[in-house]
Amino acid sequence: MRRNIVAGNWKMNCDIPQTYELLDALKEQDITDEVSVIVAPPFTNLQSANQALLDTEILVAAQNMHQESTGAYTGEVSATMLKSVGVEVVILGHSERRAIFGETNALLTAKVNAALENEMTIIFCFGEELSDRKAGSHFDVVRQQLEEGIFHIEKENWNNVILAYEPVWAIGTGETATPDQAQEMHHFIRNTLAEVFDTDVSQDVSILYGGSVKPGNAKEIFGKQDVDGGLIGGAALNAADFTAIINAFE
Ligand code: PGA
Repeated sequence: MRRNIVAGNWKMNCDIPQTYELLDALKEQDITDEVSVIVAPPFTNLQSANQALLDTEILVAAQNMHQESTGAYTGEVSATMLKSVGVEVVILGHSERRAIFGETNALLTAKVNAALENEMTIIFCFGEELSDRKAGSHFDVVRQQLEEGIFHIEKENWNNVILAYEPVWAIGTGETATPDQAQEMHHFIRNTLAEVFDTDVSQDVSILYGGSVKPGNAKEIFGKQDVDGGLIGGAALNAADFTAIINAFE
């Protein structure tokens, strides 16, 4: 069901002491209950983070996972392993995974399937490069990423999917899409979902915006009709900033 969500993608930041410090600071904040809050620390901190947050509503997500459940895949972590430490949410398809680690839409299809088979919730990321936007092909690129990465799922699986539109040119750059640019793309995504699936799917799915969301711009971006929250990188590493972004919904 569509809801307001703010998720913090910590990327490769925070060791265990820093994780406790950040989560303790977050727990001291006055956070609105209008928003589902998710934090995604690195693999090594997932179990500790989950335990630290047991007395809260905040969920813990992994930033990635492998598509197989066990086997000779040195350095990888599977859905069943994540679930065994109480993690039920996974970010898939982040642009850094696509660009730096070569994740393709075909690989993401397999990861999506593995996550769904394990009844996990997926935060599925996608978004165009600056060159795509300059060429005017951003809608086509986004549609293709969705079609090849996640549109193969069954209608009922959409209950376990959160979409995150993250224009690559806005990630970590300090440059955000304008609220109108975000709305335009989110509206396009909803229309595409209505066309390929139906209006239940298009109206029920939460679509997050990601890319340099800060306390100063969150309210305006989240105020747009088709924007249901954000996937936050840098600003999620500061409890006060992350809280201010969450509370932009108040
Ligand atoms: P940013 O990162 O907020 O630092 O731009 C967003 C993301 O990568 O999810």
